[in-house]
Amino acid sequence: MANVTVIGAQWGDEGKGKIIDWLSNRAEIVVRFQGGNNAGHTIVVGDKTYKLSLLPSGVVQGKRSIIGNGVVVDPWSLLEEIGKVGAAGLTVTPDILTLAENAVLVLPLHRELDAMREEAASQKLGTTKRGIGPAYEDKVGRRALRAIDLKDLNSLPAKIERLLGHHNVLRKGFGHPEANAQALIAALREIAPKIVPFIGSSWRQLDAARRAGKRVLFEGAQAVLLDIDHGTYPFVTSSNTVAGQAAAGAGVSPRQIGTVLGIVKSYTTRVGEGPFPTELKDETGEKLGERGHEFGTVTGRKRRCGWFDAVLVRQTCITGGVDGIALTKLDVLDGFSTIKVCTHYLLDGQKLDHLPADANEQARLVPVYESIEGWSGSTQGARSWADLPANAVKYVRRVEELIGAPVSLLSTSPDRDDTIMVSDPFMDR
Ligand code: IMP
Repeated sequence: MANVTVIGAQWGDEGKGKIIDWLSNRAEIVVRFQGGNNAGHTIVVGDKTYKLSLLPSGVVQGKRSIIGNGVVVDPWSLLEEIGKVGAAGLTVTPDILTLAENAVLVLPLHRELDAMREEAASQKLGTTKRGIGPAYEDKVGRRALRAIDLKDLNSLPAKIERLLGHHNVLRKGFGHPEANAQALIAALREIAPKIVPFIGSSWRQLDAARRAGKRVLFEGAQAVLLDIDHGTYPFVTSSNTVAGQAAAGAGVSPRQIGTVLGIVKSYTTRVGEGPFPTELKDETGEKLGERGHEFGTVTGRKRRCGWFDAVLVRQTCITGGVDGIALTKLDVLDGFSTIKVCTHYLLDGQKLDHLPADANEQARLVPVYESIEGWSGSTQGARSWADLPANAVKYVRRVEELIGAPVSLLSTSPDRDDTIMVSDPFMDR
């Protein structure tokens, strides 16, 4: 039995929440390893819908869940989310949730800086304004506060002085008042007793789990095209979203990552700014958006939509380390007489089989499509291959061929049970 790591293989919003929830039934521990409350994972169980942002999706099935050291954590948002899921009937206590002691905290000044930058920029990145980028900057700049600091409140003033020394220069530059150290200390003192019970060691718990032979599911957020190194820079998030980050962001050996499942939507969407070669700014794009309910879970922003881009996914399977994919939202393509798939690009008339690293070149790409005959029947709610129209099966097979990775799971509705398992990711190796 291997562990499984789940990552997004496009620009996010591929339906990771549902797949992770489905897989967490077969895991004993679920671990988040990067990102923060910029993520939005929607899980539908019967008539209940849970929207998770920081909490690992394992909490829905009452599984032991860890927020790893690679995550940046807004402690106020975390408590709010625990309160919200509590109201919906899920009790999240320190018995099931651990927050890594060495995870970096997202503070109000990070959110403020995120917003100031977006407002001032002539070329906006379209961030979620959750303070994620500024928090990671402070981590790398070695001036961040970490969860463990909430256990030693007397050390806060010195750490905050150091942090504000940096932030107040920036705030001044943006014409904003300086951050108030006393107010921040008071807010952290107030929240500390509520957060401290959750604080623990990610690496030690996972080492114990490995020794006990427990199965671990590593839950990625965002997606490979938003990866700080491998994505469409600078229109990316501030963390590594590839599978390799699961090791660094949780404190385990790279050998513990197990089988890597890339989540792939049957078409393409993107929220926020940046290049998107197969984007459709026409009726077909609108139709995909309407049928797929393509609005951001976190910000409510309308997602940009387009045809499936096999060039991108072929590349993200390589850079992300994907062994097999879970293909989601196939039902959104039901009823299209012709479905298009991008097989390569033209850049200034030259054929290209990959995404170039240069942002200006990315913006000039012309997608070249292959047309595939659609299907009139419904794939919604299908639970076996036999339930799928023949042309839908053909589409899936063609996607596999073009991206060079097999389909392990197929999701045919938001409901947990509407999932076809082609091969068990936990048994793959
Ligand atoms: P940030 O992560 O808030 O800094 O935003 C950077 C970019 O990543 C923006 O284009 C966001 O829309 C995008 N982004 C961040 N998190 C997600 C997500 O969970 N799904 C989809 N896009 C995301």
